Amino acid sequence: MYPLRRNRRLRTNDAVRHLVRETILTPSDFLVPLFVVEGKGIKEEITSMPDYYRLSLDNLEKEVKELWSMGLCAVLLFAKVPDALKDNKGVEALNPDGLMQRAIKTVKNACPEMVVMTDVAMDPYSSYGHDGIVEDGIVLNDETVELLADMSVSHAQAGADFVAPSDMMDGRILSIREALEEVELFHTGIMSYSAKYASAFYGPFRDALDSAPVDLKNVPKDKKTYQMDSANRFEAITETQADIDEGADIVMVKPGLCYLDIVREIRNEVDVPVAVYQVSGEYAMLKAAAEKGWLDHDAVMMEQLIAFKRAGANIIASYFAKDAVKLMG
Ligand code: PBG
Repeated sequence: MYPLRRNRRLRTNDAVRHLVRETILTPSDFLVPLFVVEGKGIKEEITSMPDYYRLSLDNLEKEVKELWSMGLCAVLLFAKVPDALKDNKGVEALNPDGLMQRAIKTVKNACPEMVVMTDVAMDPYSSYGHDGIVEDGIVLNDETVELLADMSVSHAQAGADFVAPSDMMDGRILSIREALEEVELFHTGIMSYSAKYASAFYGPFRDALDSAPVDLKNVPKDKKTYQMDSANRFEAITETQADIDEGADIVMVKPGLCYLDIVREIRNEVDVPVAVYQVSGEYAMLKAAAEKGWLDHDAVMMEQLIAFKRAGANIIASYFAKDAVKLMG
């Protein structure tokens, strides 16, 4: 007999498809990364990230108001630090009047309810372009962790709701949590980049912040001694569990598309919110293919974003957030 079950019945038309759809994106799924620069009236396009910009603080204010009006309620701040302020210790990272600290205040003044997350890492401040202090060709762990803890306190004191360490040093979550408790910032959360892979997809981001590792003797050429090997899966669970044990409120997998298996695995394994970061190279790939007319920008964008949520991500950091929300209508 011909099969009684015809799966196509549930695909008959838009209304039926909508009725049975398992995954639906909403604006509150998104975390919007924003790049800030010194100056006034600046909105510079990032060459390898078409339609994405570095903003001076006055434009940051306008941008967050627009995001909020669209229902986008969380931002992740990155500061582009002038070369003259970079060193091998991250001194500028602790400046209470530094660009990041002023950016946090700008967002909070413009939009008090916006969830403000901040990138905690040394690379934008490092003259060597590393996420830690470099000594004799080694990226030092424990010395770097001390800086990250101080940096987190500085961001929290400026008003950050969550600090987001993106460095992958060992033990940093515990040190950050303890440092925050010490100054009674009990309510500042930690979103940990827990399973962050040493990926070639970060190129455009390093252009945006001018933060790539420099080509100098005794400076590691890549970040493979701290970021994870893309071949590893069990390690992602170990890393994530360790961060949760140390006090992470939210954990993250990064990059996104190539690591959807990891997103699903982590989602099944842990009971804290899981974020995914669709990184700059993923953004650039689609923009480039769409520019050539080889892919349908909006359709591919939505398909990818749905995939993150279907894989189990509760929070999606994406440069496409605004475009996606506009399409959601
Ligand atoms: C560095 C950092 C990177 C990203 C976020 N924080 C790059 C790196 O690790 O070199 C990448 C984000 C992106 O590519 O969109 N701490």
